[in-house]
Amino acid sequence: MHLLRVQVPDFRGLKDIDITFEKDFFPKIFPLGSQNGGGKSTLLQLIFVLLHCSVDEDKKPFLENLLQGFKIHERDEEKILAIIDIWDGENIVNLKFYCYKYSIEAGTELDDEEMNHIGISKEIIDVCSFSKVTGTFSQYDHDYEILTITELKCRFNNPNKEQAELFLDKVSRKIFLAAPSTQVFLFLPPDSRKLLFSNSRNGDNYYGILESARSKLPGLFTYDFLAVELLIKSFKAARDRDFREAIQTGSYGNSYQTLINDLNLLLGNKRINLNEDFSGVNFKLYNNDETIELYPEDLSHGELKRLSIFAWLKSHNIKDAIILMDEVEIAFHPDWQYQIISDLKEWAPSNQYILATHSYELCQALTPAHVKEIEPKLIKQES
Ligand SMILES: Nc1ncnc2c1ncn2[C@@H]1O[C@H](COP(=O)(O)OP(=O)(O)OP(=O)(O)O)[C@@H](O)[C@H]1O
Ligand SMILES: [Mg+2]
Repeated sequence: MHLLRVQVPDFRGLKDIDITFEKDFFPKIFPLGSQNGGGKSTLLQLIFVLLHCSVDEDKKPFLENLLQGFKIHERDEEKILAIIDIWDGENIVNLKFYCYKYSIEAGTELDDEEMNHIGISKEIIDVCSFSKVTGTFSQYDHDYEILTITELKCRFNNPNKEQAELFLDKVSRKIFLAAPSTQVFLFLPPDSRKLLFSNSRNGDNYYGILESARSKLPGLFTYDFLAVELLIKSFKAARDRDFREAIQTGSYGNSYQTLINDLNLLLGNKRINLNEDFSGVNFKLYNNDETIELYPEDLSHGELKRLSIFAWLKSHNIKDAIILMDEVEIAFHPDWQYQIISDLKEWAPSNQYILATHSYELCQALTPAHVKEIEPKLIKQES
């Protein structure tokens, strides 16, 4: 799965966005730069929600929340939200997401003919619809409410609707967003976004709401997610793979040992140990003649973050996916900002990564052609 091109004509701060992520570039890692407020996070969240939430009823409220920021001009009936081209390994799939708007009197039931009139056709998938009372009119001493219904639709370049739906379902399991939890997520309910800027009231707080969203969005990862839990999950998955191999071939596989080796490589002068009952991990730090035992909470912010990205990729066995990462470099020393490119390439090379970033060091680990920019562009001045 490879995100080839994304076009966003007009969504919140994004204007006339048209970015191509070349399929034949190696590694498949594309930094996305702009100055603060350029719209990088908005773009990653828009792509993620459209591709992750369009098939599953439980996830559609997230689309609705996001669409609160999408205005269709009064004189228009429809407006394009985003055009996304994806290489599925054999073909280019073109997805055109657009919103269609119409007004009716509240309580009116539309018949089939009217439904056809409002744009239902066989190569179009209806993603979701929501309505809002936008006015009233009076007749025979009665007030009638006007409902404006906005429908999000997706038009495919493949006229076979069944195949198109299967593709949307597949891509929803191959798209991931990793971001700091301090980020404002546009797909959370608008009122809950405000909580990030106020003291918690009535037990409500932004992080609780984010946690509940995360349980419904398996593709969403926040870097502060407890790495230990993910590490234990990856150890268990490796143990099970080894055991399955023993059943199939008569000898145990080496997934568990490979995982330990990879982790020790990542940890530098520390060695990881798993409790025998899989209840936790600790680290041995070899310092001259001394061996010090450390626990996850003793690791530095940057060490924990790097470990948690590794553990997330391994525990979810994320392969052949599109991974959108926001502010991946936060907490990393410039050397590690550079290093994260080869880390991702090594840890899970079949994925495509799009990294919203402010880091010149990270960009320098790739060719200039890998680096995509949106306005206002970066303006590094050499002294
Ligand atoms: N409805 C809107 N119309 C126009 N601009 C908007 C709208 N809503 C938000 N914005 C602007 O969009 C920008 C938010 O973009 P976003 O957070 O995606 O930027 P970013 O590139 O991720 O920035 P940073 O590098 O600081 O994280 C802000 O400057 C905000 O003022
Ligand atoms: Mg941002």
